[in-house]
Amino acid sequence: MTLEQEIAKRRTFAIISHPDAGKTTLTEKFLLFGGAIKTAGAVKQNKIRKTATSDFMEIEKQRGISVATSVMGFEYKGMKINILDTPGHKDFAEDTYRTLTAVDSVILVVDSVKGVEEQTERLMEVCRMRSTPVIIFVNKMDREGQNPFELLDELEQKLRIDVLPLTWPISQGQNFRGVYNLYRGQLNLFEPDQTRITEHYIEIKGIDDPELERWIPSAFRDQLREDAELIEGVYDPFSVERYLDGSLAPVFFGSAVNNFGVREMLETFLEIAPSPHEREASERVVRASETALTGFVFKIHANLDPNHRDRTAFFKICSGTFERNKFYHHTRLGKKMRFANPTQFMANEKNLIDNAWPGDVVGLYDNGNLKIGDTLTEGEELRFRGIPSFSPEIFKEVINRDPFKAKQLEKGLRQLTEEGVAQLFLQYGNRKIIGTVGELQFDVIRFRLEHEYGASCDFMPLRYFKAFWITGTDTPQYEEFLRRKSPVIAEDKEGHPVFFAESQWMLDVAKENYPGVIFHETSEFKTKDEG
Ligand code: G4P
Repeated sequence: MTLEQEIAKRRTFAIISHPDAGKTTLTEKFLLFGGAIKTAGAVKQNKIRKTATSDFMEIEKQRGISVATSVMGFEYKGMKINILDTPGHKDFAEDTYRTLTAVDSVILVVDSVKGVEEQTERLMEVCRMRSTPVIIFVNKMDREGQNPFELLDELEQKLRIDVLPLTWPISQGQNFRGVYNLYRGQLNLFEPDQTRITEHYIEIKGIDDPELERWIPSAFRDQLREDAELIEGVYDPFSVERYLDGSLAPVFFGSAVNNFGVREMLETFLEIAPSPHEREASERVVRASETALTGFVFKIHANLDPNHRDRTAFFKICSGTFERNKFYHHTRLGKKMRFANPTQFMANEKNLIDNAWPGDVVGLYDNGNLKIGDTLTEGEELRFRGIPSFSPEIFKEVINRDPFKAKQLEKGLRQLTEEGVAQLFLQYGNRKIIGTVGELQFDVIRFRLEHEYGASCDFMPLRYFKAFWITGTDTPQYEEFLRRKSPVIAEDKEGHPVFFAESQWMLDVAKENYPGVIFHETSEFKTKDEG
């Protein structure tokens, strides 16, 4: 197969949702379709228990399994599908944001009863930053949910994206009869069954086909015809271009647990979702079809085996063909590296591979050379953009509890933050402040410092509400700001100054008093705010 053919058959995406909307269930159904797993429940067991805020065994279990499930690859109808798993727990949101930088598109699951929830909105913001194409799956239609038109309005308003239904539900809850595929003019009747794939398609010739009468009771039929007419009047016809540029989200209705509406979405997804195309590096735009290998690390898993200080770096291929044992150029370190045991993840298995192509994620065995965001090439000096750190929301100062283990603490904190568990900021050279998006990370850090590095520490809460990366358009003013605000300024891992705002009000005051200082919510401010 040529490189172009390899690229064309690949779809690399993530399924995202607010916890409980049905992400795990939907992932599992996809894997069942692909024949990658045989029974329902196989993915479920990998899920961190929602209540497990301090259950370390769960955390460890999750880490262990999640190497295998971080990427779930499978073949379906000649296509190679890579689902990148994102942790459901909100405290791991940063990990999710980073994973989203490595996908070409996203399927967003929304609970028909609960509508758009907080986490859904935040995830969508990340998609919007990168104009990622989004398909929405409205799940749990077997429950009494919101009116579908109202739900569509809510999706548009809260997610700030135009939506277009491609299937339409025929009633819902106890009366749920199925969906009408507005795109294909096909009826799909609902027969609840959680164990088999039970979709029952009926070919009809559009919404006015008398054949409808055989299958749907008159009250629901009239409603369906009325709804279809309204949809046609209100929404513009589907435009693949608008989906691909991230401004229009097609919507499907179904019930993941009942295997309903899932195949319909999967098939449309395969048809319209983008294959790996191009990616922006600081120096230039890299096309997937370029023959020289390029790619970047978006995730790192460390110390899974306590006897070996090993790490697996998840490397997303952006262009060219990856080859085992070939030397690649690590652009940050200016160093040559080759990988004797690269792995790929097919369903729940990890396999040694010789080659991989754009869209694929390769697990690289690493002993400390790779960091999140690192780029590998065949010699060109490139740095991929779009793997930013996001402003954390919880801040704590690290207090060393064992002065004899200061070195271990230092090393542990450095490695864990390189792995992306949390962000580390340094103040006055050695005061360490950890920033996270959730409390659970502090439990993880404390536990892993103790078990993997033999270091122990306490965390002292700090009352900051957000961190902002700062740059200046007016040098004297910027320098004055740095001087005056030094008690609330630290450096991130790259040495960039970061301002800790104690409240929104304090931030607003700072902005007003120092118009020559710019406050950025992500570390990659040049990409986002300064073009
Ligand atoms: P998540 O990964 O987004 O957190 O959600 P997950 O798939 O775990 O689904 C959350 C709950 O919603 C699960 O129930 C799941 O069975 C249920 N669910 C998923 N799809 C549907 C659907 O189409 N209809 C209905 N009625 N329920 C659905 P649970 O009780 O938390 O787990 P379980 O005991 O059923 O495994």
